[in-house]
Amino acid sequence: MSAATTLKDAQSIASWIVDVRRQLHRIPELKYEEVKTSALVQATLKELGIPFKAGMAETGVVGTVGPKDGPCVALRADMDALPIEEAVVSDFRSTHPGRMHACGHDCHTAMLLGAAKLLKQREATLPGPVKLIFQPAEEGGAGAERMCQAGVLDAPNVQRIFGLHVWPQIPTGVIGGKAGTFLAAAGELEIVIHGKGGHAAMPHFARDPVTTAAQVITALQTIISRELDPLVAGVISVTTVHGGSTYNVIPEEVRLTGTIRSLTLAGLKALQTRVTEVATHVAAAHRCTAEVSFPGNDYPPTDNDPHAWGLSQQIGRDLLGDAGVKTLEAVMGGEDFAYYVQGGVPGCFVALGIRNQELGAIHSVHTPQFLVDEAALPLGAAMHVEFAMRSLSELAATK
Ligand code: NI
Repeated sequence: MSAATTLKDAQSIASWIVDVRRQLHRIPELKYEEVKTSALVQATLKELGIPFKAGMAETGVVGTVGPKDGPCVALRADMDALPIEEAVVSDFRSTHPGRMHACGHDCHTAMLLGAAKLLKQREATLPGPVKLIFQPAEEGGAGAERMCQAGVLDAPNVQRIFGLHVWPQIPTGVIGGKAGTFLAAAGELEIVIHGKGGHAAMPHFARDPVTTAAQVITALQTIISRELDPLVAGVISVTTVHGGSTYNVIPEEVRLTGTIRSLTLAGLKALQTRVTEVATHVAAAHRCTAEVSFPGNDYPPTDNDPHAWGLSQQIGRDLLGDAGVKTLEAVMGGEDFAYYVQGGVPGCFVALGIRNQELGAIHSVHTPQFLVDEAALPLGAAMHVEFAMRSLSELAATK
């Protein structure tokens, strides 16, 4: 079947995909709480006659299309939302206060369900099984790692895996990516500066964690600007500062949180070591102590297999034309898709353009204004179908 047929088939179910996406958009759920989302995925797979396994890593679902035997390819979508109050007004606006699909995972899930529908129609032509992975908790919960631990890549063994992410930096009708490291290794940072509280009028009786925190925040910035090779990427961002309760009391402690990123896991570890050294010593210089920790999961970098990226580019050109493929620079965003490929399964994470100036689809992910050009959704579903079909043919031919 040609790429043109796939595109036509995907366009013919565009309103179905958009409808699924809007249903999901109304019910955004945070990491590991994707109960309604998971139920909707399961109900849809059931309706499509696709067998699935539910309850993996809490709310994860894995459907399988195609024969039992033969090479196996996986397609992955994430299902969780963010703790953001949606600012976009629409008739499918979030009905969950303080929660929003601000990273487009509703689109990812809907596109994969669209692909599931198309692949089911072509089931008889598939030379091997396609696993459809709907995972929880991409946003800081390392849902992908737990899906791997639950055996999502085993029995049958996945030989290649693909994921799509909506990308507001590139226009609808364009896909992007690169071979090698595409997304960063990322981890969370927490620093608690302990001092000694006191009356703000008598600072000499106290040990001030507020001024110390200010010094620590400033000092951390010189790790990147003065210690790191300027040609090597690294990020240290302190994003929250909490301390004190009133204007005339020096508090006991100040709590800082933030994020550290590098394009390698070793680079991330090196930055963590220096953050610990700088924070504890700067705090000591100011008669305070700093307790440094790296809570949560350190996501590995997302490495795209060169062959899988080559195939993705070919698919992009066939579906969207030569102008429909863009090579991107690596970005410092993190993505738990990394867990699927770090164990040696070749894979590719591809950016799907959703930018549309006219619609106002210009805002970054993770903002309350984030808006998606839904015309991209059937293109994403078509990409998924081609990822699976072409990879299966390649793998079947090389067996
Ligand atoms: Ni995301």
